[in-house]
Amino acid sequence: MKINKICCIGAGYVGGPTMAVIAKKNPEIQVTIVDINEERIAAWNDEDVSNLPIYEPGLAEIVEETRGKNLFFSTEINKAIDEAEMIFISVNTPTKTYGKGKGMAADLKYVELCARNIAEVATTDKIVVEKSTLPVRTAQAIKSILHNTGSDVNFSILSNPEFLAEGTAIEDLLSPDRVLIGGESEDAIESLANIYGSWVPQDRILRTNVWSSELSKLTANAFLAQRISSINAISELCEHTEANVNEVARAIGMDSRIGPKFLNASIGFGGSCFQKDILNLVYIARSYGLNQVADYWEQVIILNDHQKRRFSDNLISTLYNTVSGKKIAMLGWAFKKDTNDTRESAAIYVADHLLSEQANIAVYDPKVSDKKVQNDLNYLNTRTSEENRDLVTSYSDPYEAVKDAHAIAIMTEWDEFKTYDWKKIYESMKKPAFIFDGRNILNKEEMNDIGFEYSSIGK
Ligand code: NAD
Ligand code: UGA
Repeated sequence: MKINKICCIGAGYVGGPTMAVIAKKNPEIQVTIVDINEERIAAWNDEDVSNLPIYEPGLAEIVEETRGKNLFFSTEINKAIDEAEMIFISVNTPTKTYGKGKGMAADLKYVELCARNIAEVATTDKIVVEKSTLPVRTAQAIKSILHNTGSDVNFSILSNPEFLAEGTAIEDLLSPDRVLIGGESEDAIESLANIYGSWVPQDRILRTNVWSSELSKLTANAFLAQRISSINAISELCEHTEANVNEVARAIGMDSRIGPKFLNASIGFGGSCFQKDILNLVYIARSYGLNQVADYWEQVIILNDHQKRRFSDNLISTLYNTVSGKKIAMLGWAFKKDTNDTRESAAIYVADHLLSEQANIAVYDPKVSDKKVQNDLNYLNTRTSEENRDLVTSYSDPYEAVKDAHAIAIMTEWDEFKTYDWKKIYESMKKPAFIFDGRNILNKEEMNDIGFEYSSIGK
């Protein structure tokens, strides 16, 4: 099928950047991204590209180049579905917060709504592409909804999971390690492979069956998260044995079978996907009665929760067992650098624990708004929004955030933190001045020379 028009349902962290790159690399294809969230679409259409709803290095430039030419953002969902030959479903698939599978299974209601919407509106044949991360065998449900419409429209369903990481989304999309397409219909697979073929070498475009494709996405995230939990587990052992986790990571990473990437010990992984996708994997394994498999993967999450908790426990015990009434400055709130995304950020859980111990928290993050910080804490429902507002203040100047603080907690590895005037910061803080470096980005000797009581992860 020749693709002239693409519709993408979901203008989020995946839909936005992915479609922007597809539009850039396929100027002859019209790409329309639709969403029910009017505010988000308005932000995507904002004339000033610094107001786009998502911050990703390189994204604003591509949007500026393509928007209004062959890339469009709209709330007219039905129109875009009807016109397109290919429709990507790129909506959120969060962990269920109710009913069967609560706290474990993926909530597929948004995906199902999309399938029903497509079934209702389509008058011509469509290729429907699962871009969202979905439990293995979801394509079956989508197929059933689409094929029971009573119309004679033909639908081909493909699985095309996305492997981009936030903060490097554009880089990852421009030169992906691989593109994965799972499907039954060879024609549909090749239509999608042609679109990626505009810039991705053919030998990096993998074709599999639908189920392998769906399961590969969950497996990739599980393996990546497992590496972080593995090195974090070793970081705790390092702290008891005078081994240094950076040195251990370097030593094992030089083994070509292990490889050097994704071995940074930290306060624990965050982000909207690792936890959600592993919980989902655990749920699926349990639903097939595979309890050993489920327990094995669940341990990755248990260790991650432990890592966040022991960071805040250590902070409290070092501050003479109380943070009540003390100012703790948190540098960074995003779940990693170069993104404004805070979903499941370790900072939220560390802050919540410190607040329960009556700390006052000052937050500085170069890309995260005060509104987001407050929303993240309110979402936990640990205390009222008024209490959160009283206890947590966001600053736009890092030097103001740390002034008179008893301790600094580094939560995100933003590059700018490394270049601060740490002597000036030391002078403005209460003494002894503590730094808890949750990202191992500062130099211990330099900090100690200035006068800080410095601690990091795994050293
Ligand atoms: P997101 O929450 O940023 O965006 C999803 C968007 O879908 C929202 O704007 C929402 O309003 C919209 N939406 C929901 N239901 C809709 C409907 N019925 N009609 C129209 N719009 C609707 O989510 P995201 O981070 O882009 O993730 C989307 C999917 O991609 C998830 O399954 C996620 O697991 C997967 N994924 C995410 C990443 C990542 O880095 N964020 C990477 C790879 C895969
Ligand atoms: C991750 C995967 O890397 C992507 O391939 C995948 O597409 C995506 O999830 C998804 O499905 O959503 P993302 O969560 O955006 O991407 O970012 P990562 O770079 O993987 O970082 C995740 C978390 O792990 C961050 O909190 C990061 O700080 C932490 N991390 C990462 C570590 O603590 N140590 C490391 O060595 C690497």
